Amino acid sequence: MTVWSFCPEQIQAKLKTIDIKNKGGRPDLIEYRKLWVDWIKDFSGCENKKQWAVSNGIHDAITNQVAYKSKSVDTFYIFSNDYKFYNVILGPYNYKFLTPNSIKSIRENSYIIVSQPNHEGKITDWFEPLKEQCRKTNSKIFLDCAFYGTTLGDTIDTSDPVFDAVAFSLSKNFLLGGWRVGIVFGDKLAPSLTVPIDHYYDYNYFNIAAVECGKIVLSNFKSTYITEVAKPIQLKYCVENNLKPADIWMWAFDSTGKKICITSSIQYKIQEELNK
Ligand SMILES: Cc1ncc(COP(=O)(O)O)c(C=O)c1O
Repeated sequence: MTVWSFCPEQIQAKLKTIDIKNKGGRPDLIEYRKLWVDWIKDFSGCENKKQWAVSNGIHDAITNQVAYKSKSVDTFYIFSNDYKFYNVILGPYNYKFLTPNSIKSIRENSYIIVSQPNHEGKITDWFEPLKEQCRKTNSKIFLDCAFYGTTLGDTIDTSDPVFDAVAFSLSKNFLLGGWRVGIVFGDKLAPSLTVPIDHYYDYNYFNIAAVECGKIVLSNFKSTYITEVAKPIQLKYCVENNLKPADIWMWAFDSTGKKICITSSIQYKIQEELNK
């Protein structure tokens, strides 16, 4: 079962003000990076890594970074209940599935793609053991923060050197997937990610529509813009319907533990609250 958010009318109205340009330049990049760094403050640290890049969503960052790493990494790993797109990206490479119980099987020089908070509805209990096993085996993590902002009170120190790359996008939180607004930070990113924004080459071959969208959305709506209003509504809905709320506001579990996306049932109430 997948999970989706919605795009509030307030965000949709701001999207109408986006500046259409044929090409971006250095000032756009400087502003975009700064706005992201402010927006991701609860998962801060990765902004101090040596490099960054504009990415067409998180997919683009993973696709490029995995290709780049594929010559030096022995095995890629993904969790079997994580984002379904990972195995599409990893199709051409040597990869294995993990479960929380098989974390100890990660071998030397591996690369793990993982999302946090993730499709379990929260920051998972096995995230710390995963990082520990990676440190022991000289392995690295690609941290997918697609769900950043959809829970309250969570923090992650993303400066940890165990993270080879840390990526964010506006796709999940505000249902803006079509705009492909993303960013990735890392100490050694794929040149296919960094060259399009490189000052030396001066190509500026980055997605300026996405950057303009990011500039408008990031500066006007904090990461928990929906979540702060949605959480109490989710909790009330769960009490009324005998469901267990996930940390991610869009999600609940029924009495058999099945995940249910409750967004369509509560979004009108959230919109009403946002309008006040
Ligand atoms: C775990 C996870 N990662 C990434 C994405 C989206 O990726 P992108 O930023 O490329 O749209 C999603 C869903 O939209 C997701 O559930």
